[in-house]
Parts: sequence; structure tokens; C-alpha cells
Amino acid sequence: MRLLAGSANRPLAERVASDLGTSLTRARTARFPDGEADVVVDPDLRGETVYLLQSTGPPVDANLVELLMLADAVRRCGAERVLAVVPYLGYARQDRRTDPGQPVGIRVVGDLLAAVGIDRVLAVDAHTRDLEAISTVPVEPATAVPLLVHTLVHRLPGPAVVVAPDLGAVKLAERYAGLLEAPVAIVRKTRLAGDEVRADEVVGEVADRHPVIVDDMISTGGTVVAAAEALSRTGAAGPVTIVATHGLFVGEATTHLGRLGLERLVVTDSLPPPDEPGLAVEVVSVAPLLADAIRRIEAGRRLDDLESFG
Ligand code: R5P
Repeated sequence: MRLLAGSANRPLAERVASDLGTSLTRARTARFPDGEADVVVDPDLRGETVYLLQSTGPPVDANLVELLMLADAVRRCGAERVLAVVPYLGYARQDRRTDPGQPVGIRVVGDLLAAVGIDRVLAVDAHTRDLEAISTVPVEPATAVPLLVHTLVHRLPGPAVVVAPDLGAVKLAERYAGLLEAPVAIVRKTRLAGDEVRADEVVGEVADRHPVIVDDMISTGGTVVAAAEALSRTGAAGPVTIVATHGLFVGEATTHLGRLGLERLVVTDSLPPPDEPGLAVEVVSVAPLLADAIRRIEAGRRLDDLESFG
């Protein structure tokens, strides 16, 4: 078994390798002067199972193409199986056409992964599971929710209410609520533009409870910030906690979040944490989760109880 990483998140890849008691296979990931991916891997891979670690967060297309190039290079070296370990899977939000004239982005990504010979994809809290439904690449779903709950549970300032910041997050909120033994509230959200959302109302009992807003990702921060502001207009107790698996923090996200005066902001290291001194972000590593998943795949064991991890 060989573990090889793209350039998107080397610290996480090093942690996974260390958890597995191995080291990363040599690979050079650079750019040609015109910006094309310039990738060279250790060619001694014949007959091997290769795990390719690469999150496809910002810059999304560059990281995606690098993953595709690595997979192609590895295949050409004679690797037997190639598994893409993609902690954050970009384009997963583009899982359907909401307006005529749009592509189905995740379908394109699935086809590309299959085209370069990737046999399976391991993704953490992917926004959609439709990748599997619309492409031939089997997906191994993993979740960081138990790890995140483990971090939260010992330091809640009082009885909690788990808040879904939009309807799409309700199932996720129920998952957290089950583990935290807390009720769920839902924010009715309207997205006005890619980086602009409006929270219309909070549905559910939040009075005197500590609000824990949960989402799969924070991108511009618009969704969670609008939810936090809506909660401040209710009788919820004190500053809010925000928890998400993937912290993209694009645009003005850190500035907007910094202004909220949060109790806690917790994400995983599926993506590199923001380099923003003004915002206290707690980062939980998914390295043990990924290492455990890889160990199980290697041992031919099931992954469906992986989420009991933590
Ligand atoms: C939406 O369906 C997702 O689950 C997130 O709520 C959303 O993508 C977060 O984006 P932003 O931080 O830009 O509001």
C-alpha cells in the first residue's frame, strides 16, 4: 500500500501517513510557467494499491486537475488500484440543475475521476451522495460528525439546541442532536446570490438554550452568519457555537465571522485552516478517521460503522 499526496493539504497528508506508521511516497507537484500542473511521482508503483490524498478545495480547479494528473501518472506506473482520498470534495454542491442552462458539476467531476482510472473515492461529509448515483466511481462515505461532537460535548456552556442554518442541513442537525441529546431548530433561509443569504425565521424552541449551528461547510460564511444573526433576535442563550466539517472561508468569511463574537467556531482540517489571527478557529483533525478508513479498506473490512469512530 502506498500513500501519495497532492499539494492541497500536505500537513493533513503527513498526519495520515504518521497515523498509519508509514511515510508519503515521493511526488513532485509544481506548475509549469504557463500554470499547467507539473506532476512527477516515484515510478516504483507496479502492482501497488495507491491512496491519493487531495482535497479539492480552493483553488478548486487547480487542485482537481492535480489529482487527475497524479492518478494518471500513478496508473501509468502500473499501480493495481487507485483510491482517491478526497476529504473535501469540490463541486459536490452542483448536484442538480436548479436553472436551465447549468451543468451538473459533480457529474463532470465523477466522469473525470473515472476517466483517469480512479477505482474508488473516499470523501468526508460530501455535500451530496449523488456522485455515486451519477458516475461509475464507487464512493466510500465517511463522516467527521462523531469527532466534532466529541470536541463539543465536554465544553457546552449549558443545555444546547442544534440549529440547522437551512433546510438542507436538517438531517445533519438531527445527527448532531442525536449524539448531543439536544433538540433541533431550523432557520428558514433564502439565498439571494452566491455570497448573500437572508435568514427569514427560526423554527423551533431555542429559548434559554445554547445554539450550536451545524453545517457541512462554511464557504463565504453567509449561511451561518445569517443564522447566528437570526438567533440573536430570539431568546437563545448567549453567543453561538458554529461547527462545520469543511472550512473554506472564502471572500470576507473570516471578517464576518469575527464580528459575531462567537462562543466557539470548530471545523476540521479537511482543508488548510485560515491564516487569520483575528478569528479563533478550533481545528479537529480528520487524520485518524482517514487512517482508520484506509486500514479497513486494506484489511477488506466494512466502512459502514466507521462513523462510530470517536
Ligand atoms: C448549502 O447547501 C451548504 O450546505 C452550505 O450551507 C453552504 O454552501 C455554505 O455556503 P456559504 O458559507 O457561502 O453560505
